Amino acid sequence: MGGECYIIPRLILALAGTVMMMMTTPIGPMAASIDYADALSKSILFFEGQRSGKIPSTQRITWRKDSGLQDGSDIGMDLVGGYYDAGDNVKFSFPMAFTVATLAWSVIEFGQLMGSEQQNALEAIRWGTDYLLKATSVPDVVVGVVGDPNADHDCWERPEDMDTPRTTYVVNKTSPGSEVSAEIAAALAASSIAFQGSDAKYSKLLLDRAKQVFDFADQFQGSYNSSIPQGACPFYCDFSGYVDELLWGAAWLHKATNDAYYWNYIQRNLKHLETRDIDGNPYEGAGIDEFGWDSKTAGINVLISQRVMKDPNNGNPFIFNADQFVCSILPDSPTVKSVSYSPGGLIFKDGGSNLQHATALSFLLIVYARYMIDAKKVVRCGDFVAQPDKLIEVAKGQTDYILGKNPLGMSYMVGYGQKFPQKIHHRGSTIPSIVAHPKFLGCHGGDLYFKSQKPDMNQLTGAVIGGPAKDDSFENSRYNVPQSEPTTYMNSPFVGVLAYFKASV
Ligand SMILES: *[C@@H]1O[C@H](CO)[C@@H](O)[C@H](O)[C@H]1NC(C)=O
Ligand SMILES: *[C@@H]1O[C@H](CO)[C@@H](O)[C@H](O)[C@H]1NC(C)=O
Repeated sequence: MGGECYIIPRLILALAGTVMMMMTTPIGPMAASIDYADALSKSILFFEGQRSGKIPSTQRITWRKDSGLQDGSDIGMDLVGGYYDAGDNVKFSFPMAFTVATLAWSVIEFGQLMGSEQQNALEAIRWGTDYLLKATSVPDVVVGVVGDPNADHDCWERPEDMDTPRTTYVVNKTSPGSEVSAEIAAALAASSIAFQGSDAKYSKLLLDRAKQVFDFADQFQGSYNSSIPQGACPFYCDFSGYVDELLWGAAWLHKATNDAYYWNYIQRNLKHLETRDIDGNPYEGAGIDEFGWDSKTAGINVLISQRVMKDPNNGNPFIFNADQFVCSILPDSPTVKSVSYSPGGLIFKDGGSNLQHATALSFLLIVYARYMIDAKKVVRCGDFVAQPDKLIEVAKGQTDYILGKNPLGMSYMVGYGQKFPQKIHHRGSTIPSIVAHPKFLGCHGGDLYFKSQKPDMNQLTGAVIGGPAKDDSFENSRYNVPQSEPTTYMNSPFVGVLAYFKASV
């Protein structure tokens, strides 16, 4: 999943025949050395291109200007700010909160390795948390979506020109949304830890709100799928149920507070964790292998394992599950895999926006490897014994692939390396900036730029896009949404991964 931003089908039909496919060559490119520091800076810079709201004077991606300044006015709330999720102009709280949670986790684990980029990473978190605070400012109400997603997706329009309905969709006590609410609680709790050292007052504000929103998510249970169907589906339907978000929220609150209440909550509710895959089908092998905007299971187990690894009596089922998760990824493991690998070595899972899996799973592998080193532990997959190095090696393979060590010799991060995607599925990037072209462009005012075979007008530096197909081929085309669209939650865990490799080479 994650290919949630569909371009107008009639445009696809009109040009489908003219799209050229770049084929994989059997000869690998010359091994270029990877500049992880450069990639790290760019991966964080990307978030400025996704900003909604009032753009500050410190903005470095200068082709983006103010947008969505009336957001929330339809229900008398100030909902200005936050992030657009991908190549469209909607603010979806569910994936936005996951993005913020994983950015915060990146800073918690690897902030010390980021150097001067740590400050930029904290700014990227704050842009999200400032909005999430607004989205939860009324007790027992949580803003799920701003912007009518269907109307938005029918247009190819700059955020600065948006004239589609900016409808606000909220969940409340009678129409609840435990997944979106608990994910916001997780994001706020994780961010409160990330800000502890630099802004204690803000950190406390985030934590207090996280507790309040978590209580709301838990006391009024239900899925936002049915409470705000027009806002949730088919864009970010919750397929995996909301128990994973409740446990994930509790796990972050426990890490932030050390309060036994959250630990007991996790123990009590673990049995309710649904074991369904990302397509909603019952999952063989306990459904512990997913980590993305929908399902948090692998992240829950890895996160909690840090606490319990040194105390084997307390380790079940988290360490067992986290080990199984690792075994389901490592190519050398004899156990059943939850991923496949392309001939060039890239991790694949079903659905679009595949690089979200490569980045998020690499992040978990590195985090878990570091916990293992700390606890002097190995992972046993049948007869195969994995040392922490093995996990790091797999994550490095994914990272290097994304940055250019692949059969096409191209980077899948915009603006990184010699050869990178030039026609991404992103409205602001495609259409001339209002700086260059101040005249208003309406709903279809951007269509000619979408259809153009020319490279993007504005470079969305640092954006990781959906990436290549299973055979390592890549179609450099805006029409190919699963391959060419960036999303915030592909970049967010990658920030931590790049900080780690920047410091380790
Ligand atoms: C909750 O939201 C629904 C639909 O948005 C609305 O009909 C209902 O009155 C709200 N309930 C409360 C308690 O505000
Ligand atoms: C959300 O909607 C999707 C699509 O209709 C469905 O498959 C899924 O089971 C729903 N999830 C929940 C938690 O209701």
